[in-house]
Amino acid sequence: MTAILQEWGELALRWAHVIAAIMWIGDSFLFMWLDSKLRTAHPARTGELIGELWMAHGGGFYEVVKRKSLESIPAELHTFKWESYATWITGFLLLVLVYWAGGRAMLLDAASPTAHVTAIGLSAATLFGTTALYHLLCRTPLVRRPEAMGVVGLLAVAGGGWALLQVLTPRAAFLQVGATLGTIMASNVLLTIIPAQREMMAATREGRPVDTRPGAKAKLRSTHNHYLTLPVLLTMLSNHFPSLYGGPHAFAVLALICVLGVGVKFAMNQRRATPLWVWGGTLAALGGAIALTVPASGAADDPALLQHRKVAFSEVRTVIAARCVSCHAEAPSFQGFAAPPQGVVLETAGQIQAQAQRILVRTVQTKTMPLGNLTAMTDAERQLLGAWIVQGADIDARAEPTP
Ligand code: HEC
Repeated sequence: MTAILQEWGELALRWAHVIAAIMWIGDSFLFMWLDSKLRTAHPARTGELIGELWMAHGGGFYEVVKRKSLESIPAELHTFKWESYATWITGFLLLVLVYWAGGRAMLLDAASPTAHVTAIGLSAATLFGTTALYHLLCRTPLVRRPEAMGVVGLLAVAGGGWALLQVLTPRAAFLQVGATLGTIMASNVLLTIIPAQREMMAATREGRPVDTRPGAKAKLRSTHNHYLTLPVLLTMLSNHFPSLYGGPHAFAVLALICVLGVGVKFAMNQRRATPLWVWGGTLAALGGAIALTVPASGAADDPALLQHRKVAFSEVRTVIAARCVSCHAEAPSFQGFAAPPQGVVLETAGQIQAQAQRILVRTVQTKTMPLGNLTAMTDAERQLLGAWIVQGADIDARAEPTP
């Protein structure tokens, strides 16, 4: 009962998280786009203008005018913050529920000497400590040089990612990097962007001239947020792609997918004006990430697997029963699992054979299953499964009892 309630809770949070994130990122994309399309007003308008633009959508024309200041605050003035707060709050709750409270295996390998509570502490310290460091960095002159900020950010992701990978499971380390970048983004809204708006509105209400500096700072931070959106989305999605985080060069893959995300966003913004070096760098990051995730030797030409003696299906079955079925069963016996993870059941010969390629990736090539190696699978057993798959993943149909 508790397990199924936990699953519903997770589903509700994840749904809310994705909805809020779509709204937040949608705003970010839309406002960056609006800013990039502002033109001098024709005919001229009164007041201090930044620019205007016109759009047609949904059966009408929109006339958008961006002003530096207003005479007075209109009765209805829309601001945007809850999308961002809701994304962070639901994301943080998911982190707590799935990773911190989801059992030791979500954060640590079974053989790791680190205590569960230490790993939770590391996760929290990374989240808030890195955010504080980012805000300190934004007080240095570096903030005025976007390229330098980008390089420092990239080194921080690679270095921080490397450090996290030394302690946490690779899946948790990737998610931690994404959650940390997301926290930086939400903190920009809470600590810089919204206070700047509040000051702008207070000055207008009191009839003081609007100081444009906080607004310029807020715009810079919202540009940082904008370029972090795609890297964050990629790190969140990486959870479903064990080849990304499961290899020996995971921290480099992490840094490269961040370059890829920023490059793609830049090209989306600049379109045909995108400089050649950005295209080159983005494509090189993609190529590099793909190259780094290719297993050192393909399973089909891995000498260790090829030279393995012939494996009987009964041996495979024994290993899977001992190491996988506690979770991957119609009714998992492993505490906390209400249903087989990802719907993968490995109880019958047919089910095992149908999953052979995924078993190869998860248990032999990336070693990301069993989860946290909770069931203490040995390397010899991994080789045995790999060899069976390379030898054609045959099941001895006669040995299978008819249902
Ligand atoms: C402690 C529970 C647990 C054990 C034991 C376990 N798994 Fe998993 N498995 C999971 C969870 C949780 C997921 C979903 C998260 C993920 O994909 O990392 C999953 C997902 C999978 C998937 C589907 C995702 C994909 O990449 O296709 C496969 C296949 C898989 N496991 C194979 C195995 C094999 C083979 C074993 C035994 C060697 C095993 N698992 C042991 C918990 C477990």
